[in-house]
Amino acid sequence: GSSHCFQYNSWVKSLLPVQLLSQVNPSSMTPWSMGLTGTKLGCAEGGCGACTVMLSKYQPHLRRVHHSVNGCLAPLCSLHHCAVTTVEGIGSVAGKLHPVQERIAKSHGSQCGFCTPGIVMSMYALLRNNPTPRMADIEEAFQGNLCRCTGYRPILEGYKTFTKVRPHKHTLSVMHPPEDETPVLPAPLYDPADFLPLDPTQEIIFPPELMSL
Ligand code: FES
Ligand code: FES
Repeated sequence: GSSHCFQYNSWVKSLLPVQLLSQVNPSSMTPWSMGLTGTKLGCAEGGCGACTVMLSKYQPHLRRVHHSVNGCLAPLCSLHHCAVTTVEGIGSVAGKLHPVQERIAKSHGSQCGFCTPGIVMSMYALLRNNPTPRMADIEEAFQGNLCRCTGYRPILEGYKTFTKVRPHKHTLSVMHPPEDETPVLPAPLYDPADFLPLDPTQEIIFPPELMSL
């Protein structure tokens, strides 16, 4: 009967990735239908990371409660008791950028920008779990994020400033000139003194209403 169809439909929809749900039912409460267009749909099969969002689950016995996930693959039913943070949730040019957003921009790590929200959210989730990561942690965090424009280097150079290694006025590369020529150093890529400090005490908290579920 119709109630069976309704239940079946609801069940099928609960298995659909968040990103695709709005195409099935435009009135669904999805990031896109809510006007949150920062999260991108690239490959829709878990290969590019453009759809990365942060999933937080209250697990008092664990340190790692934040996870970067591919929104295109996450079934809605897997979000039970979870808080989902999209790139709009951490900062914006209309208000105040988060240091993760500011540093990728100032280090020229965003060109066409399509990968940027996903890369920002992978870095943000890492910092929420570990505010002083090692470079190896950062490289591991980006294993699921593809960028077709930058070659990754400016992204990594910018985010290196979140590690304990604090570079000064970092340049992208130094070409080795012929021995009889004076080396011409490229202009500084960025000055870390210009960056907003990372203050973990100012991050959004886990919604208390989800703790009691
Ligand atoms: Fe490419 Fe989700 S859209 S991983
Ligand atoms: Fe274009 Fe990364 S900036 S794909």
